[in-house]
Amino acid sequence: MTNWSPNSWRAKPIQQVPTYPDQAALAETEARLATFPPLVFAGEARKLKKQLAAVANGEGFLLQGGDCAESFAEHGADNIRDFFRVFLQMAVVLTFAASQPVVKVGRIAGQFAKPRSSGTETKGDVVLPSYRGDIINGIEFDEKSRTPDPARQEMAYRQSAATLNLLRAFAQGGFANLENVHKWMLGFVSDSPQAERYQALADRISETMSFMRAVGITSETNYALRETDFYTSHEALLLGYEEALTRVDSTSGDWYATSGHMIWIGDRTRQPDHAHVEYCRGIKNPLGLKCGPSMTPDGLLQLIDLLNPENEPGRLTLIARFGADKVGEHLPKLIRAVEREGRKIVWSCDPMHGNTVTAAAGYKTRPFERILKEVQAFFDVHRAEGSHPGGIHIEMTGKNVTECTGGARAIRDEELQDRYHTHCDPRLNADQSLELAFMVAELLKKNKVSLPAKKAANG
Ligand code: PEP
Ligand code: CO
Repeated sequence: MTNWSPNSWRAKPIQQVPTYPDQAALAETEARLATFPPLVFAGEARKLKKQLAAVANGEGFLLQGGDCAESFAEHGADNIRDFFRVFLQMAVVLTFAASQPVVKVGRIAGQFAKPRSSGTETKGDVVLPSYRGDIINGIEFDEKSRTPDPARQEMAYRQSAATLNLLRAFAQGGFANLENVHKWMLGFVSDSPQAERYQALADRISETMSFMRAVGITSETNYALRETDFYTSHEALLLGYEEALTRVDSTSGDWYATSGHMIWIGDRTRQPDHAHVEYCRGIKNPLGLKCGPSMTPDGLLQLIDLLNPENEPGRLTLIARFGADKVGEHLPKLIRAVEREGRKIVWSCDPMHGNTVTAAAGYKTRPFERILKEVQAFFDVHRAEGSHPGGIHIEMTGKNVTECTGGARAIRDEELQDRYHTHCDPRLNADQSLELAFMVAELLKKNKVSLPAKKAANG
């Protein structure tokens, strides 16, 4: 790695950087964070990379999702449990449909910093800095709250540690045991429009488990039935915080981001000669790269060269977020460039960020049918190009919020005000998340049927 160090990004131009009034306090916080324990271990990031390498080779599917922005206010055990439960339900629906491993990555335990389209927000004649996520400033519209405060970085670190601790317990301590596949339905989802479908699927899994038990394969003897691998991810936006948690792995001598297993570069901060790309190229974690409508095939190849120069499968996931109407125009060109150059990457679909609209009452929302349409178009393009639709990346919660319109419960514009709780972008609620998983499951099943035919046709 030429001329890279955890702080080499500081010499580069940078976008989306907050203005901290007290630079000395910021430096003190960063120095203190650098002495704190890592949140994740290099070996875990390597294990995730290996699982993503299988996805890059067409053998598996990536499910990545969680809050747009985690908040200090919503930090509670119930929230984490409800999210994890719906996430597991989605994963089981997808695993069953695809008969392939589903790699589970949460946007959680570190997803705090937000890029904004404008540096300031105006209400009446008051102009204040925009809200940039709880790790930077507060959402309330007053001067004190909107002033970036470095102490928030320590709070975000500690919240991430506590969240991760509970997630590890859920993943490994029995909650994720496949024998509980029926119990995951408890809560409001049991009266949801998806309940019947989920029940039927859980019945089939239970039946299979009974058979396996009869022949001696049980969750007591088999770790894969009893536990699951669950990983964390976030946008690596606040680079001072990331730098403080960048550590050398003693077994390999390589640098790793220890703030989460996987980190990604946002669509607004992916300039090849700027700070965010500079930081990410030097760490060994799996990386994500958001690709919006302004990404050109040459621009993409240049970024792939910088971020994955050794063409290591599992290192880089390209997260396409074009908007339902633009996928057909943009995605094929990028896929062709990647295929032509033989680059081994995972293609994932973020059907959220290109489909945001403002409803009549001023709420930012996303129509569920546009989200489904983008996923459908993503699969259609991959089928036509003969490439692997490797995953989805969504903003979701386990709560019964009303933030995205539509879905089987048909949330209307007028209902958005009922339970609109997000600190940033509108999320799918538990029902809508499960409905999306069932739709993706159908697409994966269709792919499974048509893929051998395609391979045969290609000789
Ligand atoms: C996000 O994932 O919350 C986000 C800001 O996405 P993008 O960079 O794709 O706009
Ligand atoms: Co978002």
